[in-house]
Amino acid sequence: MRLFRITFTNQKSFLSFFLDVKLKTMIQVGPAPECRCDSYTSATYRANHNPYDIALKRNAAPQPDTPTIFVVTPTYTRNSQKSELTMLSNTLRNVYFLTWIVVEDSQSKSDLVTRFLKHCGVPYVHLNGIDPLRYTKTKAGYQRNLGIQWIRDNVNPIKTPGVVYFADDDNSYDVRIFDEMRNTKNVSVWPVGFRGAKYQAPMVENGKVVGFMSFYGSSRKFAIDMAGFAVNIRLLFERPKARFYYQQQGILETSFLTCLKISYDDLEPKASNCTEVLVWHTRTKEPSFAFEAKMVQKYGKWYNPDMEV
Ligand SMILES: *[C@@H]1O[C@H](CO)[C@@H](O)[C@H](O)[C@H]1NC(C)=O
Repeated sequence: MRLFRITFTNQKSFLSFFLDVKLKTMIQVGPAPECRCDSYTSATYRANHNPYDIALKRNAAPQPDTPTIFVVTPTYTRNSQKSELTMLSNTLRNVYFLTWIVVEDSQSKSDLVTRFLKHCGVPYVHLNGIDPLRYTKTKAGYQRNLGIQWIRDNVNPIKTPGVVYFADDDNSYDVRIFDEMRNTKNVSVWPVGFRGAKYQAPMVENGKVVGFMSFYGSSRKFAIDMAGFAVNIRLLFERPKARFYYQQQGILETSFLTCLKISYDDLEPKASNCTEVLVWHTRTKEPSFAFEAKMVQKYGKWYNPDMEV
């Protein structure tokens, strides 16, 4: 009996082995059922479905010269901040050769973000800063510029080739978008889901970008969402003054790409010539704490109003 050659360390593992494998084999008569539930409990399935292995296979074998992806994420204190950073870190943790530059919109680094980053499992850089001019609708242009400056001050693009991507903490990302952007020569572009329509996207003809479809601000030269492009960091050094301008609304993306002095010809369409949506401009509904005071009143010492959530 093959079963008894396996040494079980305790009764529980014997029992679970029996239940998982033996019992199921015994009751399976006839052809294998459609349901694949068995495979989820089998040791073989578990051994072959390590998410890190999947990432490794997806990226092929990472080489020492594999470009690094620098993900710049501006963030600000709000009720849903930790949950959204958690979701983004769960995505980024599956991507090799990635540095996450998190830039807080704050006078000093918050305890919440500091603690969060320490155990997020993604190589990170923690920055912070407040726009001294405090334009009303700055849309984190200042924080993204701090991220760009960090790359200029700390990365040697010859030793460490890479691309920079501006990933807000409330969007949704298919991990394959990182494979798509990794080998960007100058600037790569792709569609973004959910922007006043199902999606907005570059228009591609014969493998070349010929324009942009966007409901909003379509007269902009680069009418593209922040989540829809990545830039080879070499360009940050060739155009040392390139940055986001945010004094006016709606010019962030196009102002930065214009500074890079690129033409449509330089744009590399990704995601199957911009026919696939791999990024979504999702929006989290701000959680309501309307009954906070009532909870304190009702539960007294049991309810901790200072709980970090
Ligand atoms: C994009 O389109 C060009 C020109 O039609 C074609 O050569 C190329 O293979 C396409 N790329 C992908 C990834 O589909």
